[in-house]
Amino acid sequence: MPAVLAAAWSLLAAAFLAALVLLPRLRRAGVVSGLFQDLVRYGKTKRGCGQRPGWLRLLQVPKRWFTHFYVVSVLWNGFLLIGLFQTEFLGGSLPSWIQHVHCFLGRDSQSEDTDSEHFSALLVLLLLWLHSCRRLAECLWTSVFSNGVIHIVQYCFGLGYYVAVGSTVLCQVPTNISNGKVVSLSHSVPFGDWFERVSCPHYFAELLIYVSMAIMLGFHNVTWWCVVMYVLFNQALAAVLCHEFYQKNFSSYPKHRKAFIPFVF
Ligand SMILES: NC(=O)c1ccc[n+]([C@@H]2O[C@H](COP(=O)([O-])OP(=O)(O)OC[C@H]3O[C@@H](n4cnc5c(N)ncnc54)[C@H](OP(=O)(O)O)[C@@H]3O)[C@@H](O)[C@H]2O)c1
Repeated sequence: MPAVLAAAWSLLAAAFLAALVLLPRLRRAGVVSGLFQDLVRYGKTKRGCGQRPGWLRLLQVPKRWFTHFYVVSVLWNGFLLIGLFQTEFLGGSLPSWIQHVHCFLGRDSQSEDTDSEHFSALLVLLLLWLHSCRRLAECLWTSVFSNGVIHIVQYCFGLGYYVAVGSTVLCQVPTNISNGKVVSLSHSVPFGDWFERVSCPHYFAELLIYVSMAIMLGFHNVTWWCVVMYVLFNQALAAVLCHEFYQKNFSSYPKHRKAFIPFVF
């Protein structure tokens, strides 16, 4: 098991779990609370927390820059996908610098593996790349971003995130190798399908994507379950903030709707 990666993902999962637990306790005015709220909120939930100090507003970038995350992901994970495909089927090998990083983070090149593990990793990388292409297309042609903002730390984190996810998949195997019409830019109550059950079905779907990848990589893959735990807590935090935003801004918001997981949470 790649210990460095598992430790890093566990740490991230723990950090987001801590943020979820601390959220109700760090709502008072003050520098620490202000910074904490600024780091965990983005887009509409950031706007909902009132006027922020000028120095915090200096550290913000437009939320529409989310698009950059998927540009990076399509390029990086496409590069890894081609490299792994060449290694598996065409007798090629990955560039030596990737192999060195891989040796540091992942399993060494001599360790035992099976053809099915290689195929699983290739398939997961392909799905991750397709997912990123879909998200990039959504950002470019479907999403209608208002003037929401994100913290520069969140932006840098997002840029590194899909590089880290793709690299984690690669390290699971040894390598000897909007066209919709814009109605309004304001946020309204979403409804229909899964939205009738939870405020953020898209975050729940994101979690399911990562769980399905875990199943594909084999239930025993501890590193990937650490990634899943990170996505669970990260998306749970965003869902709680979004749920609170709807409850605060829409007095008729359906009481039975949960935040993230239907019937549970
Ligand atoms: N794996 C990860 O770590 C990770 C992290 C973050 C996000 N994601 C994924 O990235 C995707 C987008 O995430 P997100 O946090 O940006 O989602 P989001 O805040 O719900 O925004 C998605 C789009 O819907 C719009 N929107 C949101 N609520 C709305 C409302 N009530 N009325 C009208 N429009 C609304 C947003 O506009 P505004 O921007 O103007 O609000 C944006 O264009 C999701 O599938 C999420 O699961 C993954």
